[in-house]
Amino acid sequence: MKAVIAGTGSEVPPKIVTNDDLSKIVDTSDEWIRDRTGIMERRVTDEGTATSDLAVIAAERALTSAGISPMELDLIIVATCSPDTLFPSVACIVQDRLGAKKAAAFDISAACSGFNFALSAAAAYIESETFKNVLVVGADTLTKYLDWTDRNTCVLFGDGAGAVALRGEKGDCGVLASYIRAKGEGRDFLVMPGGGTRDPEMKNGRFIRMDGKEVFKFAVHALEDSVKEIIQKAGFTFEDIDLLIPHQANLRIIEHVRKKFNLPEKKVYVNLMKYGNTSAASVPLALDEAVNEGRIKSGDLVVLAGFGAGLTYGSNIIRWR
Ligand code: ACO
Repeated sequence: MKAVIAGTGSEVPPKIVTNDDLSKIVDTSDEWIRDRTGIMERRVTDEGTATSDLAVIAAERALTSAGISPMELDLIIVATCSPDTLFPSVACIVQDRLGAKKAAAFDISAACSGFNFALSAAAAYIESETFKNVLVVGADTLTKYLDWTDRNTCVLFGDGAGAVALRGEKGDCGVLASYIRAKGEGRDFLVMPGGGTRDPEMKNGRFIRMDGKEVFKFAVHALEDSVKEIIQKAGFTFEDIDLLIPHQANLRIIEHVRKKFNLPEKKVYVNLMKYGNTSAASVPLALDEAVNEGRIKSGDLVVLAGFGAGLTYGSNIIRWR
């Protein structure tokens, strides 16, 4: 039994914040942000919109494109590090709002790697025939945790959600292999320190803190490793890959890996120009766009790979149905 991606969906908030907009509030420039990250603009939620609001819309679109009704769902996994509340989970909110009354629901916390982690868990449930129809959502609204006076972080992130509806099917298509890893010793390089049990009153502030240089060094290694390991694990070569969808954090990280493995530009999907780093939403949002643009056809071999806070990293390889 394999976990086949039967449908994809995504959602981003309508408000666009350009690099020029940011240059009016912090000491930065469109040129610096483009040169150092590749990002041109990002989407930002308004005050009244929470992560689940984007997740539900992405989920509905994925289910519609898969032809799976909410009542047929056995499980909903939401990857997020910006839940509406510490509990209940975003997945339970999504379950209720979809009316997926027969589904179990839980969140996975692996920051920007979350979608790859959640997809690997969903595939394991399906392959073991524990569940048949599983919805996996990656959704984050990290702009709510940005210090808009800190140019080191506020230029990098955006909000969004992406989803896939998976169905268990016999055959050669679907998730062929998953690879997930963690390096907890690097946990201090990217932190949202306030709000948890270490600091419930947020004495350390309510903003993301990042050591950009350390995260960059880790990210290059993590993306390289995730791509190389998954291709080897599944018994393929780099030439066999039709499309790589990496986590959309920084074009320089993606380009480093693309060049290292001699992948042509057309085999690597990039949309970070429009959205910045949408954390757990980044990979499924890019996947949904790639599908809608006709970049993935039946039989294609697709690699999804990411890295994030934790530190975490991982990948999935999929034969497209
Ligand atoms: N505009 C202008 N100057 C800036 C800005 C900005 N927005 N941000 C930083 N600078 C300055 C710095 O202050 C520094 O100035 P200084 O030399 O006077 O101290 C200078 O630019 C160079 O800074 P560096 O940190 O060396 O810049 P670098 O080339 O490393 O790029 C960046 C910084 C883009 C943050 C890079 O390190 C990066 O992308 N790191 C990875 C970040 C990432 O991917 N995080 C997400 C992980 S996924 C997750 O789980 C959420």
